[in-house]
Amino acid sequence: MNQDELKRAAAHAALDCIDDDIIVGVGTGSTVNHFIDALAGRRERIRGAVSSSEASSARLAAHGIAVLDLNGIDELPVYVDGADEIDGGFAMIKGGGGALTREKIVAAVAHRFICICDASKRVATLGNYPLPVEVIPMARAHVARELARLGGQPRLREGFVTDNGNLILDVHGLEIRDPVGLEGELNQIVGVVTNGLFARRGADLLLLAAESGVQRLAPAQ
Ligand code: 5RP
Repeated sequence: MNQDELKRAAAHAALDCIDDDIIVGVGTGSTVNHFIDALAGRRERIRGAVSSSEASSARLAAHGIAVLDLNGIDELPVYVDGADEIDGGFAMIKGGGGALTREKIVAAVAHRFICICDASKRVATLGNYPLPVEVIPMARAHVARELARLGGQPRLREGFVTDNGNLILDVHGLEIRDPVGLEGELNQIVGVVTNGLFARRGADLLLLAAESGVQRLAPAQ
């Protein structure tokens, strides 16, 4: 199987975690696109979806799945999303698609975060994948200097504006030994909207697709 087929397998496995008559939190990216397409087959059985990006909202709507406002709901049982890297404790780097802020908001509301990945995303230590940081445009240079002070090499994602009208700095060269600590530290830099470390609220279940099948994994304690 190629990588896209593995992403599809992980996405289809997530359907088993979707109860009838619930609202589903939906992430962003190529793995999630497979999940949205699969979810379309049971759209009559769910109440709708809360989306983490304009791209996912458009895909959900094209399938006839109602896209609901997060502010209008009391409860979100489950959020399904991919990751760029995930470690043994299920801390993640996310934001390769630039949707990290809305992803983190929807994940914060959800009772359960189900991460769907192909096996290449599983790592021992986070940081080989550049860490995305969403910044307010006027703070770009200030935030870049602060990120360099922390040992990273920030690079502006050229020609990219987030759904929230902001910029992304991709931070190279970080070896992230303390994801929870670094997530908090980056949040303290003035001008940072969100960073792509999902460690304080990591995944609760990982559906990891490999040639041998899709594994259902719980985080190491
Ligand atoms: C988007 C994300 C995605 O979940 C992450 O980039 C993985 O994407 P893909 O499923 O295309 O490999 O965080 O902001």
